[in-house]
Amino acid sequence: MKFHVLTLFPEMIEQGMNTSITGRAMEKGLISLNAVNIRDFAGNKHMKVDDYPYGGGAGMVMQAEPVYAAYHSLEEQAGHKLRVVYLTPQGKTFHQKMAEELAQEEELVFLCGHYEGIDERVLEEVVTDFVSIGDYVLTGGELPAMVMMDAISRLVGGVLNNETSAQSESFQDSLLEYPQYSRPEIWRDKVVPPVLMSGHHANIEKWRREQSILRTAKWRPDLLEKAELTKKERELLKGEVGNV
Ligand code: ADE
Repeated sequence: MKFHVLTLFPEMIEQGMNTSITGRAMEKGLISLNAVNIRDFAGNKHMKVDDYPYGGGAGMVMQAEPVYAAYHSLEEQAGHKLRVVYLTPQGKTFHQKMAEELAQEEELVFLCGHYEGIDERVLEEVVTDFVSIGDYVLTGGELPAMVMMDAISRLVGGVLNNETSAQSESFQDSLLEYPQYSRPEIWRDKVVPPVLMSGHHANIEKWRREQSILRTAKWRPDLLEKAELTKKERELLKGEVGNV
């Protein structure tokens, strides 16, 4: 997977992505990162890329031409049009299925805005996907781009050590993850659930599934509508939901 990021803060993106699992994935050549400074395409000696909004109002707007020139340099290198994700609170809310779909692409461009946004005309020209990471307003698109690249990277083959863990974690079946425990067996008088010490794999699987269902009912009941539950599991919920 090749990530390109059009931004006024390339160091922020590089530093964020160079650490931990995404950093290792880059070392292994499983993903690559090309952070492009939009300011390099300013086309004037003051390297200015923003101006006042027509019609008045607070703040500055990123101008169309530097953004277009930065994108166009990528298109020329690739030799074809690229999928361009613009990070904006006005976009479609990011979710796991979207991450899975984007992970199928060979190359993705993230366009990060700042100030009061980007001139609409260049957005119309180059953006293919308008995406928000949630209903709150951040100072720029860099953190949202990193959130998306992180979620997408872990779905790229070989990035996680354990291939199954990308699959089995939260949201795959519209259920939350079950609780995890590690040594010691007793910590501050709290004991690890005995079933996990039993070595009985079928019972462990059953317990984990139940825990996932109960947790989802407690914390994210909205997800349960999409979850595929057996009749027995629905019964379990009816009995327990008041107690969880
Ligand atoms: N830019 C500012 N806030 C944002 C958000 N919530 N999602 C995506 N991009 C943004």
